[in-house]
Amino acid sequence: MTPNTSFIQATGLNRTFQMGQTRVQALAGLDLSVEAGSFWALMGPSGSGKSTLLYLMGGLDRPTAGTIVVDGQTLTALDENALAVYRRRTVGFVFQSFNLVPSLSALENVAFPMRFARVPRRERFQRAQALLQRVGLADRMYHKPTELSGGQQQRVAIARSLVNEPSLILADEPTGNLDSSSGHSIMQLLAELHAGGRTVVVVTHDPRMANYATDTVHMLDGRIVEESEYQAALVAGD
Ligand SMILES: Nc1ncnc2c1ncn2[C@@H]1O[C@H](COP(=O)(O)OP(=O)(O)OP(=O)(O)O)[C@@H](O)[C@H]1O
Ligand SMILES: [Mg+2]
Repeated sequence: MTPNTSFIQATGLNRTFQMGQTRVQALAGLDLSVEAGSFWALMGPSGSGKSTLLYLMGGLDRPTAGTIVVDGQTLTALDENALAVYRRRTVGFVFQSFNLVPSLSALENVAFPMRFARVPRRERFQRAQALLQRVGLADRMYHKPTELSGGQQQRVAIARSLVNEPSLILADEPTGNLDSSSGHSIMQLLAELHAGGRTVVVVTHDPRMANYATDTVHMLDGRIVEESEYQAALVAGD
């Protein structure tokens, strides 16, 4: 933990994509500070840069300009190997589309990433079992993704994101593909993980997430804006 309790600090973050003749500025000089132990609900219209920002926080992508520091590590200064270690040790990533391996059981899906952390086989399966229990799927360990509901698949994906005990959980619309009640139970699960001491950043369109979040943060055009500016833009039809 950094001395100023800021767990994530971004300064002047820019991410530009060149598509033929067109330049898209996904992040436009964004500054932010996420306090250790907070739970951010990040909201914003489609194309405002939410996923881009999450990828940068997770070390899955690099900014065009600016710096990002997580837990005292300047991600922009890390080489590819060090960035891979950062992703594995610090970050749990949860996607809207679950991203499970279809041919593997729930248990195997959760155990799988521990191979890369060189965890012995027996321990991989013991830990995967414990994690599936923790997300309420003790009775679905041997089911394949197609034999699980959407909400259950997302629980498997969350269990998988926890294998290396990450201090940061990044979730990109984790309830976006779920019905309202499954979505609600996923929010409660994220809230439990937050209560267990993790820093959580969730991109969401669901206003109910604000009930669990310590901070509701709004994005427009690649920047973080105050709620008043956000509401005014929505009214203006942005
Ligand atoms: N790999 C890429 N190549 C080119 N342009 C990209 C790429 N990724 C994102 N963009 C562009 O950057 C902008 C921000 O995209 P981003 O995916 O971050 O938006 P978002 O806020 O997550 O939107 P949504 O709510 O639809 O998921 C968009 O205009 C998008 O088209
Ligand atoms: Mg997105």
